[in-house]
Amino acid sequence: MKQDSNAWSGQIGFVFSAVSSAIGLANIWKFPYMVGQYGGGAFLLLYLLFLLILGFPLLLCEISVGYESRAGVGRAYYILSKGSDFWKRWPKIIVFTGFIVGIYYACVAGWFVGYAFISLFGGLSQLETAQQARELFESFTSDPYLVTSCAVAFLIVCLAIVSQGVKEGIEKASRWLVPLLLTILIAMGLWVYYHLQTQIRHHPLLVCDFSKIHSKAILEAMGHAFFTLSLGQGTMVAYGSYLPLSKKTSIAKMAGWVAASDTIVSLMSAFCVLGFCQIAGIAISTGPGLVFETLPLLFNQIPMGYLFANLFFFLLLIATITSEISVIEPVILYLQQSFKMKRAKAIRLYCVAGFSLLMPLAYESTLPTFSEVSLLALFDTISTSLLIPLGGLITALFIPAAIGRRSLQKIIFSDNQQSVKKYYTSFGEFVLNWLRQLTAWVCVTLMPISILIVFFQALYSLCKC
Ligand code: PHE
Repeated sequence: MKQDSNAWSGQIGFVFSAVSSAIGLANIWKFPYMVGQYGGGAFLLLYLLFLLILGFPLLLCEISVGYESRAGVGRAYYILSKGSDFWKRWPKIIVFTGFIVGIYYACVAGWFVGYAFISLFGGLSQLETAQQARELFESFTSDPYLVTSCAVAFLIVCLAIVSQGVKEGIEKASRWLVPLLLTILIAMGLWVYYHLQTQIRHHPLLVCDFSKIHSKAILEAMGHAFFTLSLGQGTMVAYGSYLPLSKKTSIAKMAGWVAASDTIVSLMSAFCVLGFCQIAGIAISTGPGLVFETLPLLFNQIPMGYLFANLFFFLLLIATITSEISVIEPVILYLQQSFKMKRAKAIRLYCVAGFSLLMPLAYESTLPTFSEVSLLALFDTISTSLLIPLGGLITALFIPAAIGRRSLQKIIFSDNQQSVKKYYTSFGEFVLNWLRQLTAWVCVTLMPISILIVFFQALYSLCKC
């Protein structure tokens, strides 16, 4: 195990790692079916709007908090608020959220591990009917030993990467896995494009049906802008704190790269998954049914289906590994900074706590439930509907309360003072200044208001359940 220096190799290292964290199940699994369900291009436009007023500003703020304080969530808010007890206490919730999501994510990822193997050994090629696909999924998820061992194996691989440290573990893995993931997506995209030919005009992404946009679609788009950029769980704060201090560091540019790459991957995934459905003439389904029932069946109906089934499950596996390591890291950083633990000891502690929660959770997910809600579904609802928005809300309120618009603007655009002078005319400089002020204004006003709405709406729906 390495004693790391807690720093990326530079801005590119940061971008790779943050992009690899952002690309996950939300992009490859959830985004395509939301596009299919809520009016295609209409949902895309709605999502882009929330990306601009919610996701991107919060991303800027989280990275800035980490960069300025040089600390993870456990201490960052306390340091920047100059020792306020209030800001010492509340951000601990974010660490807790990261831990819960990490374990829950590992449980679901265990299913992908299992399916990647089933697919590799040809288990999916034999499926002919929807009934058979459902039975396979049910028999897989009701085998407690299989499900638990897949989840445990997944968590061990992720912890092994994290244990190698920030630069040697997380950054190195990301530098390998992100290009691999993009290559698979591009190959699948080209194949879909080739097979759709003139039918491409009817691809759901190119059809805008605004009648399908209702309050649920709006909330889903807001929630997605949050989750897909790995916000509200301390990941981007921790990653921001590993950025080397330098006059050339531009948080605005790096966040721009992360948000743009993440959106492009979501678009590519939606293009592929919805394109596969269009080629096979199958309607898109939602939730686990899409990945574990509809897609395996569909792969059997298209040319080179075996290859694509394997590529697809491999793609999901890479995306979950890179996301999982980024959920584990803030918790490790918290243990290191708040309890002065060595990285190795923090990882050991995570193993003990993580496995103690993971095993019953994975095991329980295989048992028939007595009430409507299983423990896994409860974790999902509580973390995505309550804890993550709460984590975002803490940062959203912290920025106007403790940093303010002017200081935030200076942090986000710290490199711009030199670059503006270099090649902009006075008009260009005026526009750029105006844009910078607008961005900072969105971060301190519009974004906190939107997050408050998301949070209370989520609370309301949770109480209604
Ligand atoms: N962004 C990841 C996804 O899209 C999920 C994630 C959330 C990862 C929070 C890390 C932290 O699936």
